[in-house]
Amino acid sequence: MSHIDSAPSTPGKVKMEKSSYFFTRGGGARWHYSLAKLTVWSFAFLALILIFFLRSPAPSTITSAADPSRRSLRNYNWGGSAWEKRVRASARARSSNGLTVLVTGAAGFVGTHVSSALKRRGDGVLGIDNFNDYYDPSLKRARQALLERTGVFIVEGDINDEALLRKLFEVVPFTHVMHLAAQAGVRYAMENPGSYVHSNIAGFVNLLEVCKSVNPQPAIVWASSSSVYGLNTKVPFSEKDRTDQPASLYAATKKAGEEIAHTYNHIYGLSLTGLRFFTVYGPWGRPDMAYFFFTKDILKGKQIAIFEAANHGTVARDFTYIDDIVKGCLGALDTAEKSTGSGGKKRGPAQLRVFNLGNTSPVPVSELVSILERLLKVKAKRNIMKLPRNGDVQYTHANISYAQRELGYKPTTDLQSGLKKFVRWYLNYYSDGKKAVE
Ligand SMILES: NC(=O)c1ccc[n+]([C@@H]2O[C@H](COP(=O)([O-])OP(=O)(O)OC[C@H]3O[C@@H](n4cnc5c(N)ncnc54)[C@H](O)[C@@H]3O)[C@@H](O)[C@H]2O)c1
Ligand SMILES: *[C@@H]1O[C@H](CO)[C@@H](O)[C@H](O)[C@H]1NC(C)=O
Repeated sequence: MSHIDSAPSTPGKVKMEKSSYFFTRGGGARWHYSLAKLTVWSFAFLALILIFFLRSPAPSTITSAADPSRRSLRNYNWGGSAWEKRVRASARARSSNGLTVLVTGAAGFVGTHVSSALKRRGDGVLGIDNFNDYYDPSLKRARQALLERTGVFIVEGDINDEALLRKLFEVVPFTHVMHLAAQAGVRYAMENPGSYVHSNIAGFVNLLEVCKSVNPQPAIVWASSSSVYGLNTKVPFSEKDRTDQPASLYAATKKAGEEIAHTYNHIYGLSLTGLRFFTVYGPWGRPDMAYFFFTKDILKGKQIAIFEAANHGTVARDFTYIDDIVKGCLGALDTAEKSTGSGGKKRGPAQLRVFNLGNTSPVPVSELVSILERLLKVKAKRNIMKLPRNGDVQYTHANISYAQRELGYKPTTDLQSGLKKFVRWYLNYYSDGKKAVE
């Protein structure tokens, strides 16, 4: 009996004492004494558990602490009849054969252009965006205001919010999803790798989980990237070329997306089309991209870093104008076949496609700068530097014959004409150093 007397020093030992209590039936007082002790310890243990649960936040906020972009999960409020009314009105197609499209990342560069193009031709469009601050959110707000005027409502929320996505599908039976929400940018991946996993992998999976379970399942068109070609040196890049050597975490998450798409197509019969965009540029573009910050820095008289590869090798990009990309996106939506699953189960084989959307005409970055100099009428202060090995590849060039054949995709804007439109927008938007929202 002696071991009963040695009171447990930690709550973890209670279990052992308990078994002693059941199997050793010793004399009265001592037995009562240890029972009382046991009760005290049990209560202490229960209290500890209770404190732990009361103090720990809800699951979504646990992850919030680790990743700033996750804060959006708890901050947004959505729902209510007025909100649902706005959602319905925005998603209503003008004609009976129009598409009903959920556009993720609608406040983004490509998302804004695609949403307004769809709305203009009579489709129903609802946007979703978390308005994160990867780059100046006021630009996203300005795009939102632009879309609002064309009748497109952007729901504020994160694609990781399953309840929100389910609610949206409950309110509107979307026929198509145009999935453009992502953490973009190649170099930022070294600074904030978690944001790539959060949006490009976890967010994509969450979206597909919801899409596979709703009835009817929508067809999904989504943005992959030319970066999946990674260290591939065979040019032009064709869809069948190897894509197993990503040069950045961004590229790796896009490649993962393509494999995840394959899985959801295979298991659940979701119709999935991936689009590998090649360096998209144009009005309302992304401030983190070279053509954009070159323009800004040239105007400020600031030196710009122009990369060259080893042995003075040319760094070139297959710059693609936004209107051409939009046409490719619409072509993909229009040729997307229906998903085949229902009730979360596959009923037959479904469409699975991947297309390059580029311009098929790579331009050296130094030539991009020369065009900007002419358009801005300002000489750039060039600082030639070696291309760092942190994600950027030397050269991109799309073979677009597959997209041409299947989507009727045919880019028509060369870099000179496209940049002219970008510069006109830029000067207007940032006139006098303050932005004029249209
Ligand atoms: N612009 C290019 O040159 C290019 C090239 C290749 C691929 N892409 C891909 O095309 C798509 C659109 O790119 P973009 O240039 O318009 O970028 P963007 O950053 O302007 O747009 C993405 C939008 O998605 C939103 N978003 C990000 N994570 C989200 C989340 N978890 N939940 C909800 N919203 C979220 C952002 O707030 C942003 O408004 C992205 O998938 C990108 O990876 C773009
Ligand atoms: C371009 O891609 C097509 C397949 O879509 C292929 O048949 C053709 O050979 C490719 N062209 C080049 C120059 O690689």
